[in-house]
Amino acid sequence: MTSVGIDAIEIRTGKLVLDLPNTFAPVKGEDPEKYTKGLGLYTSSFPDVYEDIVTMGANAAKQLMDRKGLTPADIGRIDVATESAFDNSKPVSTYIAGCLEQVYDEDFRHANKGERKFACIAGTQSLDDAYNWIKAGRNRGRAALVIATDTALYERGDPGEATQGAGAVAMLIDEDPDLVELSTEQGYGSMDETDFLKPNQQFPSVDGKRSMQVYLARMREALEDYESVAGRTHPDDFEYIPFHTPFPGMVRKAALLGFRHMSRGTEIEDDLASEIGRQPREDDFETWDDYEEAIRAYMDDLKTTEQYRDWYARVIEPTLDISSRVGNWYTGSVHIARLSALKAAAEEGKEMTGKKLLVGSYGSGAQAEIHAETVQETWLDEIEAVDVDSQLADRTEISFDDYELIHDVHNHEKEIEVEEFTQPEGEFVFTGWGRMNERRYEYVE
Ligand code: CAA
Repeated sequence: MTSVGIDAIEIRTGKLVLDLPNTFAPVKGEDPEKYTKGLGLYTSSFPDVYEDIVTMGANAAKQLMDRKGLTPADIGRIDVATESAFDNSKPVSTYIAGCLEQVYDEDFRHANKGERKFACIAGTQSLDDAYNWIKAGRNRGRAALVIATDTALYERGDPGEATQGAGAVAMLIDEDPDLVELSTEQGYGSMDETDFLKPNQQFPSVDGKRSMQVYLARMREALEDYESVAGRTHPDDFEYIPFHTPFPGMVRKAALLGFRHMSRGTEIEDDLASEIGRQPREDDFETWDDYEEAIRAYMDDLKTTEQYRDWYARVIEPTLDISSRVGNWYTGSVHIARLSALKAAAEEGKEMTGKKLLVGSYGSGAQAEIHAETVQETWLDEIEAVDVDSQLADRTEISFDDYELIHDVHNHEKEIEVEEFTQPEGEFVFTGWGRMNERRYEYVE
């Protein structure tokens, strides 16, 4: 069987940008460094009046199809991952297909369409569905289009407001992929949790601090489960480790935990022993609390060591650049972390062919998944073709007052008329509601 993985990727950011340390923090009466140093966020993307999860997803998909020279006949499956859906029956993929059919001669009549929900991990689950469909030989030579699209908005005043964002990632999953091959081996950590949920409401109910603990616990279980099928991992096995990034500060915690786990019993632990001692072993402690306290002390020391700092700068930091400039894209977040890393590799002139990535996805509620990816020979052409920098640079900056307006525009409970901040050009736009309350879209030349 040929290899299966991600053939191409494109993103679409919301067209507005909010400066967090300089515009948002002062109005909130917060220290700007909470954003830059604490959360690791500089700016976040917001959708203009005529943008939403459908326009961002359709625009990303069109960019991808045009660049790869695809028509609807090449696509056998469209899966949309989102936690911002506005319809409990008709999937967002049908709206996106409807948009794309306005600009291509063919239609997606014979493509299987769906919508995946499991908080932020749904994007990765959609990749899996596409992978399994192709591996099962049911694709008839066609590729799958996976679109992760979200407007990650929180209730005004919720602590999560600091981590908002909006954007879409479109990925083409195919045989003999041009970018990365996905591993067959996977690991899961999955438990019924109430850390972040939206019980028939637009904005999430969030237990922020607990959500961070749940993220780390499920991620560790997923790594152990992955190792049970793929064998022990070592920090130097992977060129980059892209994690789900609700905000970069979260990944800082996950990376430290991952490094400790992967370096346990290796020469790295031996080398560090004279400086910070050996890792605490559960059997050496009478109570779990004592063991946990010793682990915390070890981790505090570990993060100051040169070995850890070098590894973090090389393997983790490059995954965070895009996220620090766009905020949380929920289902798309881990996929922009991968893109960020490969973009950094291209800019540094690194040879990546055959190199491995370890990808850590997470969705509240809660589930983590870990798999590996192998970078393909044609990766550089793919990555250099993705339009990231110009899209981010072209965003229109908004003031705090503008932010309040745009939050209200996208609040389903409110009905307000606001002038658009930018002029649409060569893109799909939201135009209003139809007779059955469906959302309507058109392509603006
Ligand atoms: N200088 C430097 N650092 C500062 C600082 C300053 N002046 N002020 C604060 N900080 C640091 C804090 O010490 C903290 O870092 P540590 O956790 O390392 O100690 C960080 O900045 C954040 O500060 P607070 O903890 O005070 O921030 P907060 O209480 O306002 O809320 C949050 C943080 C809980 C993450 C909140 O933003 C939130 O609820 N976010 C939404 C939930 C979320 O993203 N959870 C992540 C895991 S769940 C997930 O991943 C799914 C998903 O996508 C939502």
